[in-house]
Order: sequence, then C-alpha cells, then structure tokens
Amino acid sequence: MTRVLDRSGVVLGIAALVLNEGATDDNAREVIAAAVDAGVLALDTARAYARLDDDGVGERLAAEGRALRPGLPIITKAGHYRAAANAWNSDGSAERLRADAARSVELLGRPLDLLLLHRADRVDDLEESVAALAALREEGLARAVGLSNASADLIDRALAVAPIDAVQNRLGLGVDSFAEYHRCREAGLDFFGYAPFGGPRAAPLATRVPHVAALATERGTSVHRLTLAAVLAVLPGYWPVIGSTRAESARDAIGAMTEAVDDELREALLGDLASRGVPV
Ligand SMILES: NC(=O)c1ccc[n+]([C@@H]2O[C@H](COP(=O)([O-])OP(=O)(O)OC[C@H]3O[C@@H](n4cnc5c(N)ncnc54)[C@H](OP(=O)(O)O)[C@@H]3O)[C@@H](O)[C@H]2O)c1
Repeated sequence: MTRVLDRSGVVLGIAALVLNEGATDDNAREVIAAAVDAGVLALDTARAYARLDDDGVGERLAAEGRALRPGLPIITKAGHYRAAANAWNSDGSAERLRADAARSVELLGRPLDLLLLHRADRVDDLEESVAALAALREEGLARAVGLSNASADLIDRALAVAPIDAVQNRLGLGVDSFAEYHRCREAGLDFFGYAPFGGPRAAPLATRVPHVAALATERGTSVHRLTLAAVLAVLPGYWPVIGSTRAESARDAIGAMTEAVDDELREALLGDLASRGVPV
C-alpha cells in the first residue's frame, strides 16, 4: 500500500474547468492558481477531461498548476476517453491502459502519483485491467494505482488480483452511501470522494446539511467550507475532491483545511447525515 497524500485535506478536480460549456483555459488557470495558493493538497484530472481537438488539455492544465508548486501531487485516470461532443467510451484493456498511462506521463512530465482505472464499473474484464495497472506500477510509470467508480464487490475483486492503493468514488454528502468508504477503510485504501457537494445539479447543500448551514450562518462562514472542515475532522482517510469553477469558491472551500472544528460542528454534520438516511 502506497499512501498517495501525506495528510488530510482537499483536492481540486478540474473536470468542470475543461468540460463545462463555455469553459476557458484562462478561467481554469485562475481557479487552479487560487487553489494552489490556498493550499490545495492535490489536483485531480483524467485522460477523459479532454476536448475533441485536444486530448491533453486536462492533464496539461494540471501540469501547469504543479509548476506553481513543484511536487504538488496529480491524480489522473485511464481507460475512459472522449469519443464525441457528448460521448465518452470506456476501454479497460491492458493495451489501452498502457497507452493512456504513457500519454499521461508525457503530459505530466514524470511518473504518475496516482493512476486510477476511470470506469471500473464499465470495463469488460476488471481482472485484466487491475493486472495491467499493477504491471504499470511495477514498471515505474505510476507510484500508486486504484479504481474509480467501484462498488465494494469490484474493490474486493481487484484486491484478489493485486494490491491497489486508492479508490475514487462519488460521495455526495447527504446523497450517497458510505459503504465503499468503509470498505476502503477496512482494506487500508485511501478514499477520494468526488462531488462532495453533490455536483452542480444537486439540491443546494444547505438543504442537505441544515444544522451545519445554521452554524455557518451563526459563524459568518460558508456552508461549503464548514461542511468540508467537519468532513476532514470526522472521516479519516476521506479526501474530498471538489469541483469549484470560480477562484473565490475554490479559495473558500479549500480554507476548510484551516477551519477550527469543535464538537458542535462534528455533531451537526453527523446528525445531518443520519437524518438523511446516510449515516456515517
Ligand atoms: N472519477 C470520476 O468518475 C469523477 C466523476 C465526476 C467528477 N469527478 C471529479 O470530482 C470533481 C468534483 O466534482 P463536482 O464538480 O461534481 O463536485 P462538487 O464540488 O460537489 O460540486 C461543484 C459545485 O460546488 C460549488 N462549490 C464549490 N465550492 C463552493 C463554495 N465554497 N461555495 C459555493 N459553492 C461552491 C461549485 O460552484 P462554482 O462552480 O460556482 O465554483 C460547483 O457548482 C470533478 O472536477 C472531477 O475531478 C470524478
């Protein structure tokens, strides 16, 4: 087991900065720079965060972000690629994963900090994909490997083939179950929870964590920041992967890493999640 990050904190995902309608590289650079300045722990990108005429944009922007703080870890993902304006294909074959990893190394300029099989839920032969990831790690193309979008059953099947280091799944707070997070804790895997705020289409965060929202109002801070601060305090081994598309919201959310967390805030988050039927 390789630890991907050496302490708990917030990761910035750059999918929306590339894929949203109207997204521009200038805005992406501004948001990434704000995140790096605010102390973000790592950037999350993928082969799939691409434009039709530029397969490298997502990883190139992440590499530019690392130039602002050398050593900043970058998570990337293989086996899922943009095929048309609104279509992505999945291919977990050994050949595809090897070609994707080589292209990522070329774009990121060094061996990968964490390489994930992007759509573990969509590949034809998970065992072949996991064996391919293990070979890539063995050969030094990636320091750590893992799965994304994996059920507990897929995690167990992967572990039966080769050691993996991490899982990245959706964990919208007050929306998604914590089952895979718990499976990862038992197996000693790092868990990266994407879309912690539920993503851009979820009901407003404050309606899902009303007690945290009330505390945020009382304390003059944002519900996003206070929620992440509580998450970092009560959920060890869970790195939230946020998708801010504005420098201001990136700075605000990443500021959770320095926010003080008391018992009242812990209880508020745990109570809010329990009352949504998704207790921790
Ligand atoms: N592995 C996978 O298959 C997979 C799939 C989906 C996503 N991901 C990763 O997860 C990342 C995050 O996903 P997501 O965008 O759905 O996550 P999210 O962070 O739950 O949702 C993003 C939304 O939260 C808002 N937000 C963030 N911080 C805020 C703040 N301080 N105050 C107010 N609003 C705030 C953003 O607003 P603004 O836009 O106004 O900043 C944006 O609308 C992606 O970029 C990607 O890297 C991975």
